[in-house]
Parts: sequence; C-alpha cells; structure tokens
Amino acid sequence: MSDKKAQLKVDGIDGTIEMPVLSGTLGPDVVDVGSLTGKGLFTYDPGFVSTAACESKITYIDGAKGQLLHRGYPIEQLAEQSDYLETCYLLMNGELPSAEEKKGYVETIMNHTMVHESIVNFFKGFRYDAHPMAMMCGVVGALASFYHDSLDINDPEHRRISAHRLIAKMPTLAAMCYKHSKGQPFMYPDNNLGYAENFLHMMFGNPCETSKIDPVVAKAMDIIFLLHADHEQNASTSTVRLAGSSGANPFACISSGIAALWGPAHGGANEAVLNMLQEIGDESRIDEFVKRAKDKNDPFRLMGFGHRVYKNFDPRSRVMQGICDEVLGAMGAENDPLLRIAKKLEKIALEDEYFVEKKLYPNVDFYSGIIMKAIGIPTDMFTVIFATGRTAGWIAHWNEMISNPYKIGRPRQLYTGYTQRDYVPADKRK
Ligand code: SDX
Repeated sequence: MSDKKAQLKVDGIDGTIEMPVLSGTLGPDVVDVGSLTGKGLFTYDPGFVSTAACESKITYIDGAKGQLLHRGYPIEQLAEQSDYLETCYLLMNGELPSAEEKKGYVETIMNHTMVHESIVNFFKGFRYDAHPMAMMCGVVGALASFYHDSLDINDPEHRRISAHRLIAKMPTLAAMCYKHSKGQPFMYPDNNLGYAENFLHMMFGNPCETSKIDPVVAKAMDIIFLLHADHEQNASTSTVRLAGSSGANPFACISSGIAALWGPAHGGANEAVLNMLQEIGDESRIDEFVKRAKDKNDPFRLMGFGHRVYKNFDPRSRVMQGICDEVLGAMGAENDPLLRIAKKLEKIALEDEYFVEKKLYPNVDFYSGIIMKAIGIPTDMFTVIFATGRTAGWIAHWNEMISNPYKIGRPRQLYTGYTQRDYVPADKRK
C-alpha cells in the first residue's frame, strides 16, 4: 500500500476532502473513496469503467501492453507449457503444484466428473431446441440441491470440495446439453481420459463404439479451456462476486456467472462472431459490414473486436490464432471459407483508421469460434465451452472473496426520478 493522498475540493462543501491512495504490486493506484458517503457524496461510474471493486491477487491485465498474468505467470507461457487443470490449481491455490500435488489434484477432479443420476430428469424437462446456456443456468444452480454436505461457505474444506465438484462436473453437464439437443444418449465420463479428452468423449462419443479422440483436437480443447480460465473482474466474474457477497452458495453463484456470460457483449460474442462471419458470407461483403460497424446510427458492432481493458491485441487471441491454423490443418479445413473471411476481416479492421483510433483489436472470441466449429462443436455451444473454462476463475475469485473479510455488495445511484408527491385517487387522475 502507500501513504499517498488525494485531495478533493467540492463546491458547497467546506474544506478539502482527503482520501487515501492505495498502490498494488502492478497497475494503477486507486483512490479509496469510502469516506465520501460521510460527506454526503457518492462516486458515479456507470459500467465501472474507472472503478476497482475489490482487491485481488489472482489475475493481472495490462490493457495497453496486451499482458495477461495468472498469479504472475504470462498466459502465453501457461498455454505453451501448462494445461487446464494445472492452471485451475494455480488460480485457486496461488502456486503451481508439485508433480505429486498435480497428480493428486487431477485424480480428485477426474473422480468427481459424474453427476447425480437425477440430473437426467432435469434435461428431460427441456425442449429439444432449448439453448444450452439456458440449460446450464438451470442445472448448475440445481447442483446445490444435491450437495447439502458442503454448502457451508465459511468452511474452507466445503469451499474446496465445491470448487472440485464444479470444475469436474461442468464438462459433463456441458456435454449433456449437447446430447440432449441431438436426442442422443448421455455419455458417462471416462476417468481414464484427460480432462479435455473426456469432454470430447462425452460430446462426440456414443455407447456403440469406442471414442477416437484426435490428440491435436484434445490439446486444442484443453488450451481453449485454459485461455478462458480467468480474466480479472470481467462482467461475469463480478457477478459471481456480487452474488457470493450475499452468502449465496457456490453453485448459485456460478449459475449467476453463466447467466451474465451469456450476453453477446461478453461470453456470447464467440457465438455472435460465427453468426457474423456466416452473415458476411463472402469476402466481397466485408467492406459493407466494416462500414456498418463504424456507423453511429447502426447498432451493428464487429463481434470479436474491442475490449474494455485491452487497447492492444488480446494475448489470448494471438494464442488462439496459432491453434486455429493447427486445428484446421489437422481437420483438413485450412481453406475453411469462414477462416478466410476472418483473416481478411482482421487485416482490414487492423488497418482501418476507425478501429486503429479506437484501439479495437481482435479479442479472445474472434478466433475461438472458428476453432470450435472446426472441431464440430455447434455455434450455440460456444459460450457453454467458455463457461466451462471460466468456472476455474469464477470459483477462485469467489473463494478469494469469502476467504477474506468482505461486505455485501450494494452500489448506490444518482437518482433523477420524481421528488416526493402525494397519491392521486383514480377518479382524480387525468
Ligand atoms: C469478452 O471484460 C472481459 O475481460 C471480457 C472477456 C473475458 O475474458 O471475460 O475478455 C471476454 O467479453 C471479450 C469481449 C467480447 N465482446 C465482443 O467481441 C462484442 C463486440 N465488442 C464490443 O461490444 C465492445 O468492444 C466491448 C463490449 C467488448 C467493450 O465495450 P466498452 O469497453 O464499453 O467500449 P465502448 O462500447 O465504450 O466502445 C468504445 C468505442 C465506442 O465508440 P464511441 O462511442 O467512442 O464513438 O468503440 C466502439 C464503440 O462504438 N466500439 C466498436 C466495437 N467495440 C467498441 N465499434 C465497432 N465494433 C466493435 N466491436
């Protein structure tokens, strides 16, 4: 921390308001505005563009540099040398596991992959064409009804067990959404497989034959989970923290994160990118869509571009771009027309003065959809994959908040409605 101070002069208030300025290990200093309420003032920051809502040690993003660190480790190194479950351990515990710790953690997770058989009945209640994110919101929240043995959020052991259960069961539930939509039997997890391999087995396997998983595809799937694992105080993680601050159980909190992630401005962007590329349909129409994205009167935005924090390349999209070429090569789809449109769109956007001036670079969602489509994952499952990967970050932030002193989140407002007025009986109204 620091002994820096900020002074504020406000018309109509005597004297100067002095506020502490706090410094982290990286990133901007923050002004602690807690004393303003006592002066009859609130801060005003819709969308929390300039607001640090909490202190955290989990992930650091430098938007100008395009830097992303998980517990200090650059995302590029984790994507290159680590794997998703090891990154889950890192996010939750703060350190990389020893070989022994990693072996034990992987065994724990893989031994929690099954869900209660009654969950099948939940899926039977959904229409065949229910959006998988709608199903995930429901079944993840419902998990709380099966685990009365570990819902004491103040018990670190209960928090640890819930974290393991959520990370372990998300792929199983995600695959059940897909199987439900296809009218195919649910596949039980195979604990002899790796985490991502097991997910692909549950997605594309069937009871009549042994799953054949391409190791290139399994590795790509694992990196996709890893790249989506955490991203500081984004909208869905902030939602999980806010829900958790009321003391809600972890399954309810993760379900609230899934709901927030669904929006096209956030995790729903990967699905929106594919829909946009398909709507563009041909390289000759790219200019028309770039023109629309720049038109203030047109609500259309170039999906997969721009970011609240990154004003440089999203480092995840660079890693994703590398995997894209690999996977499409492995799937013999290197000439995928959508990939061609995406690469042309990226080139045009990065040279266009509107995008350059507004620092709108491709984000994590720009290439992920193309990879998932090449793997055979349907577009409406893309955000479910994002949610599966992000569960690690959500639960790590939830645990960090609950493990330390916290208050219920309760923002205030700038009220611009009616001042007090008296009730008018119906026969007296105009
Ligand atoms: C994710 O927060 C995270 O960390 C999120 C995430 C994570 O891992 O959790 O990284 C995942 O959500 C990535 C973002 C996915 N969303 C999209 O790809 C949807 C398209 N992008 C935009 O909707 C937008 O860029 C946001 C929502 C991502 C960011 O919006 P901001 O920070 O509120 O920025 P803004 O809307 O104020 O835009 C600044 C300017 C505006 O123009 P002006 O009003 O200044 O004239 O840039 C323009 C915007 O109109 N702009 C775009 C644009 N994005 C911003 N114009 C065209 N196309 C775009 N994609």
